[in-house]
Amino acid sequence: MKSSTLPTAMRTCKVPKSITRSISCLRGKSYKSGTLHYSVLKGFQKPRLQLTCTDETFVLRSLADLDEGDTEVPELGEARIVVVTSGKGGVGKTTSSANLGMSIARLGYKVALIDADIGLRNLDLLLGLENRILYTAIDILEGECRLDQALIRDKRWKNLSLLSMSRNRQRYNVTRSHMEELTSAIISLGYQFILIDCPAGIDVGFINAISPAREALVVTTPEITSIRDADRVAGLLEANGIFNVKLLVNRVRPDMIARNDMMSVKDVQEMLGIPLLGAIPEDEQVIISTNRGEPLVLQKKLTLSGIAYENAARRLVGKQDYFVEMSPQGKGLLQKFTELWA
Ligand SMILES: Nc1ncnc2c1ncn2[C@@H]1O[C@H](COP(=O)(O)OP(=O)(O)OP(=O)(O)O)[C@@H](O)[C@H]1O
Ligand SMILES: [Mg+2]
Repeated sequence: MKSSTLPTAMRTCKVPKSITRSISCLRGKSYKSGTLHYSVLKGFQKPRLQLTCTDETFVLRSLADLDEGDTEVPELGEARIVVVTSGKGGVGKTTSSANLGMSIARLGYKVALIDADIGLRNLDLLLGLENRILYTAIDILEGECRLDQALIRDKRWKNLSLLSMSRNRQRYNVTRSHMEELTSAIISLGYQFILIDCPAGIDVGFINAISPAREALVVTTPEITSIRDADRVAGLLEANGIFNVKLLVNRVRPDMIARNDMMSVKDVQEMLGIPLLGAIPEDEQVIISTNRGEPLVLQKKLTLSGIAYENAARRLVGKQDYFVEMSPQGKGLLQKFTELWA
């Protein structure tokens, strides 16, 4: 996005001393306030400040580290049920579900994540909730527990809950009507967003996972195999009456795109013809955050992929219709990455 088209919420100017003083993570660091870009992202419960200085590795987030007690639930109207799917396995559905779910919850919405991977669940690990799951959706369907016992609340954000379909290696004949009953029951508890983490493939697990969804997020990497599977999935979604489909391109490597060794985000989007929700760079922090059970978007010092997930979440809830440019004056990785949209 060119500077001239930046929305008014984004400015480049001196960061007032009063602000920098209130950002604890800036204390003791050397920076030139005159070269900092900042954007006050409206729509979070409190104005949120993101800073990027001329050293692109120095991406900061603060002011906003939002106070849980302050949560004010935004209006949404009808609850939204979004399936996160891909066709090809291992492209980042679960990573994206965890980070988008957490970000949307941080925006104040009541979010339920459903791990629809029967027998191979792992969303609980990414959220650090694995030890708190006593019951699963299968226990509900078998009459062993109530829905509220199987919906596990996140410790950090109480408006985020996780429902795992099954224990690991467990088998059960879940049907489309089971999925629809479960999602209706979740909505009746006041949840505004349901994100369904779909298993890989296009067999019965996929069909069950998409059946209650009214919208879909197709995740792909910029690889031809993943794109072909994403295309196939997009066709199946349409055939099943899901027309509101958006694209998330994951594991983008700006250096490889620059060398012409990887398709750009724009190329991928044009090949698939699906509106773009976001692009997430390849980032070793994804692995670190997975191992820690702490989604990227919770990190104090956000990496580029964390910012990319936050922005995708904001676009998903309709709070942002532009791609945030946080590029400093120097041509760092951030700027190069932003240019790949063009
Ligand atoms: N942006 C990224 N940068 C680096 N590693 C990533 C990124 N996104 C995902 N990964 C890694 O890729 C692997 C697969 O991710 P994930 O489990 O989210 O994919 P999935 O589509 O849910 O897989 P499955 O189809 O098996 O359910 C994980 O090891 C994850 O850490
Ligand atoms: Mg997965």
